[in-house]
Amino acid sequence: MKNRLLFLGPPGAGKGTQADLICNNQGLLHLSTGDLLREEVFSGTALGKEAEILMNKGELVSDQIVLSIVEKRLLKHNEGWLLDGFPRNLPQADLLEILLQKVSQPIEAVLFIEIDDHTLIKRMLSRGRKDDNEKVISNRLKIYREQTAPLVNHYKKLGILEAVDGFGSVEDVNRRIKKVLN
Ligand code: AP5
Repeated sequence: MKNRLLFLGPPGAGKGTQADLICNNQGLLHLSTGDLLREEVFSGTALGKEAEILMNKGELVSDQIVLSIVEKRLLKHNEGWLLDGFPRNLPQADLLEILLQKVSQPIEAVLFIEIDDHTLIKRMLSRGRKDDNEKVISNRLKIYREQTAPLVNHYKKLGILEAVDGFGSVEDVNRRIKKVLN
């Protein structure tokens, strides 16, 4: 089974939910930059205070901050990982590439979870996280289209992109993902 994975998709697509299931099942390290940043916010660190302002507006946190929190964890772990919510733009993808080349651990598969806006907005509004309100969701979607969506073509060109239909129950989506990974 492939064990160096990246989950890509719009906010609310189900990346975190599916990443938890796959990581528990395969014993992978789940690296969610959103969760790691929320931990920093919760702990009240300087980094968290800086990140919180941007997260509450649905803007991206700086590439260097995000890379620093991913790098120290990735370098400590070489038994398989799943990146969720990172990279978020082409510069982050380039920084990640350099880091992975250094440790000779290339990404084996990028799973792109596809879903329509109506469904993901409904999912986020019923979750109710601090950044799950109509105004911020609309900005998160705009940033996704402008900065993150170009990664789909980037990984397609590298021949490692696998599109997965994110519609249906959590179990349905998980079955589709496992099929691609086997
Ligand atoms: P992040 O935490 O990454 O948020 P996101 O990408 O907006 O993703 P979500 O967590 O909203 O969605 P998801 O796809 O993980 O879906 P989930 O499984 O949770 O980022 C938050 C912020 O942090 C960013 O805006 C930015 O400021 C900053 N940030 C993070 N990474 C960064 C980076 N690399 N660079 C710069 N800034 C960064 O599911 C959503 C809901 O739907 C849940 O309630 C879930 O239970 C439900 N659900 C899931 N699947 C299904 C299903 N099949 N059926 C019904 N409900 C479902």
